[in-house]
Amino acid sequence: MQKLKIKGGISLSGEVDISGSKNAALPIIASSILSSSCLKISNIPKLHDVSTMIELLETMGASFTNQGDYCLKIEANNLNNHIAPYHLVKTMRASILVLGPLLARYGKARVSLPGGCAIGARPVNLHIDGLRKMGADIQIKEGYIDAKVNRLKGAKIFLNPITVTGTANLMMAATLAEGKTIIENAAIEPEIVNLGECLQSMGAKIGGLGTRVMSIEGVDYLGEADHEVIPDRIEAATFLIAACVTKGSLRVNRVRIDHLDSVIDLLKRAGATISFDENHIDISLKGAIKPIDFTTNPYPGVPTDVQAQFMVLNVLAEGDSKIIETIFENRLMHVLELQRMGASINLDKNTAYVKGVRKLSAAPVMATDLRASAALVLAGLAAKGETIIDRIYHIDRGYEEIDQKLFQLGAKVLRLDS
Ligand code: EPZ
Repeated sequence: MQKLKIKGGISLSGEVDISGSKNAALPIIASSILSSSCLKISNIPKLHDVSTMIELLETMGASFTNQGDYCLKIEANNLNNHIAPYHLVKTMRASILVLGPLLARYGKARVSLPGGCAIGARPVNLHIDGLRKMGADIQIKEGYIDAKVNRLKGAKIFLNPITVTGTANLMMAATLAEGKTIIENAAIEPEIVNLGECLQSMGAKIGGLGTRVMSIEGVDYLGEADHEVIPDRIEAATFLIAACVTKGSLRVNRVRIDHLDSVIDLLKRAGATISFDENHIDISLKGAIKPIDFTTNPYPGVPTDVQAQFMVLNVLAEGDSKIIETIFENRLMHVLELQRMGASINLDKNTAYVKGVRKLSAAPVMATDLRASAALVLAGLAAKGETIIDRIYHIDRGYEEIDQKLFQLGAKVLRLDS
């Protein structure tokens, strides 16, 4: 297993380009199953999860053609099997995103139940209940979701709680259903809008995209499209926070400012100096870091995917702060590793009470999930001494070449083969 060795205490400086969004690319790649033609996608990030989704579709018979850097042409219009096997789903829960498209396009699917992960139970009951409402016969047996239907029918679906991939799955399923589907309390994350726009360019009839009530009029077939993946707002937030915890100064390129309102608000409250134009942000933080209280919420609230990273900022702030995680039941495990680096944090269920400390000290730490590992990288960049982060395969799932990007910004970071 590879590790990262980080020599902390260096202020980052320079420019970094943000890659395409993992959480937009995954459902968009899955949506190629819906097309009777082909789907061309650009700005695809080079991530382990994306490779897994590509491998999954290839096992079903889809063909992928490289169309230049970060661009793929996908032909998934004649799949010879409709199975998402356990050995792939267990490495990437987002494999569940093929369920809706397979049912809509082929009337059958056998998808391994994703199971839980480090941050929570991660149930998919809302995906299944919604597809059952659309007429699918779904049996759960031997750890698999076995689904079949002649043709899905439009239905009225209320999602509680708001679910991002649940919204994506049901929106994709509804595009080829007979009649109209209404999805209430839908997710409105930018990744959902990016997916919806891709479906619309394939010929889907989607109203209310980006609002809590979507209506989708089913059509008989979807055609060819050429679509660009949006920049990854979570990667952008991670680098913005890296500038702050190292008291550096960065230009972060290829971002969508309008996707980062809650993140920019927190950074300004923490004392960062920020300026931006339509696709880059300049950020620096030279003085004291101010503590910021926040609660994670569905978009446009503070994303749960930046909670761990902002906790590192609070750990180094001058004062006390409170962080409440409301989306996942076990997404505070990074606290234990940060405490080993000298952080002063008390936990009470889903609330972290942080007392800022002047310095973190380097320590051997272990990544537990994707965003927790990003937080440990940030802590290592700020800490005095050399931090070794183990199990960094977690971070490679969601950050493209993070060590090389940090190295370009002046960080002393080395990838070790243990
Ligand atoms: C997506 O996960 C993202 N992943 C997550 O990013 C992100 O943290 C999450 O949305 C919240 O924004 C992808 O898009 C691939 P949810 P998802 O369904 O869709 C409950 C990262 O780090 N729920 O929105 O799986 C669930 O338990 C990853 O990039 C049900 O109860 O999350 C949770 O409490 C981590 N039943 C809440 O809803 C369901 O059927 C929100 O989960 C589905 C979800």
